[in-house]
Amino acid sequence: MSRKIFITGSAGFIGFHLCKKLFERNEQIVGLDNMNTYYDVKLKESRLEELNLYSSSKDLEWEFIKGDLEDKDLLNYLFNKYKPDIVFNLAAQAGVRYSLQNPSAYINSNIVGFNNLLECCHRYQVENFIFASSSSVYGGNIKIPFSEKDPVDHPVSLYAATKKANELIAHTYSHLYNIPCTGLRFFTVYGPWGRPDMAPMMFTKSILENKPIDIYNQGHMSRDFTYIDDIIEVMIRLIDKPAKPDKTFIRDNPNPDTSWAPYKILNIGNSNSINLMDFITTLETELNKKAIKNFLPMQPGDVKITSANTNSIAEWIGFRPNTSLDKGIQEFVRWYKDYYLD
Ligand SMILES: NC(=O)c1ccc[n+]([C@@H]2O[C@H](COP(=O)([O-])OP(=O)(O)OC[C@H]3O[C@@H](n4cnc5c(N)ncnc54)[C@H](O)[C@@H]3O)[C@@H](O)[C@H]2O)c1
Repeated sequence: MSRKIFITGSAGFIGFHLCKKLFERNEQIVGLDNMNTYYDVKLKESRLEELNLYSSSKDLEWEFIKGDLEDKDLLNYLFNKYKPDIVFNLAAQAGVRYSLQNPSAYINSNIVGFNNLLECCHRYQVENFIFASSSSVYGGNIKIPFSEKDPVDHPVSLYAATKKANELIAHTYSHLYNIPCTGLRFFTVYGPWGRPDMAPMMFTKSILENKPIDIYNQGHMSRDFTYIDDIIEVMIRLIDKPAKPDKTFIRDNPNPDTSWAPYKILNIGNSNSINLMDFITTLETELNKKAIKNFLPMQPGDVKITSANTNSIAEWIGFRPNTSLDKGIQEFVRWYKDYYLD
């Protein structure tokens, strides 16, 4: 019997890809997104068009609701109507840098909205709650690679602080109401239909328009770039792997990433941190064009390096992200030219 899957942020980059993949598996999906204007709404609309086209061509069960996580009554109504078995929370105010300009957007969506959603998961007894956290929670940590077992108590942006708060709130609901909760610390996700506020999209646009690209910390940065298809593969596998209580959990020496309750935190990265300048070279090669480089100092809220230890995810689901940057960038550039230039 197919399950009902509720996906928030379904017009967003990751949510869109998740819906598409789930369509291929004939799952019943209800999507929610407030279609906010943080970045070009046309891109969100195009993603939705793509989903609508695909689902109607296959006669799939797909409902999209334009609505906000902050709207408790709407969430209650939707959970009562659809009674989802599985919930993916991908809706959030994303972006590290924007959290210095508009902090309340982060509190409203990522804290108030997140809690509203968990309340519904509790009330309607959801079987599996999977939510987006972020590699940003590692904040000022300098021990590389980042492990889920490391303490993450020193965030350097409000965005990161809200994601860490999500992990804590989820643990509380997991403990109080036995809701299996899995938090995914995504590491710099890129690929087709990506986010215009992130480096791959911003750099590609500027390079093609002969405009300079801003390179922070004089280029001394690295990121664990993770290809979207790998992220989706992880989430698909997690549908049938709800978090379980950790039988080896020791209360007087507690693991930060598991619990006596059904709760799990997982890094979803490529375990291969790439230097920003190497990333730019790969993009230049694929675009067959040199970037005009504008070197700038480090930005407040940013971190110099992200790098994921992915042993936990490999152990849990038998898969770890592995798409090479060359292949990922090739797919991304192909989509970019097709979507923006044709
Ligand atoms: N893309 C990455 O590299 C990355 C890295 C780490 C974590 N994440 C997290 O993964 C999740 C998905 O990221 P993404 O890249 O797809 O971002 P995205 O901005 O493309 O998608 C998020 C979607 O949520 C919607 N949304 C925002 N607030 C909402 C609200 N209050 N109610 C309803 N809808 C709302 C937005 O309109 C957007 O379409 C986010 O939680 C993000 O913080 C992403």
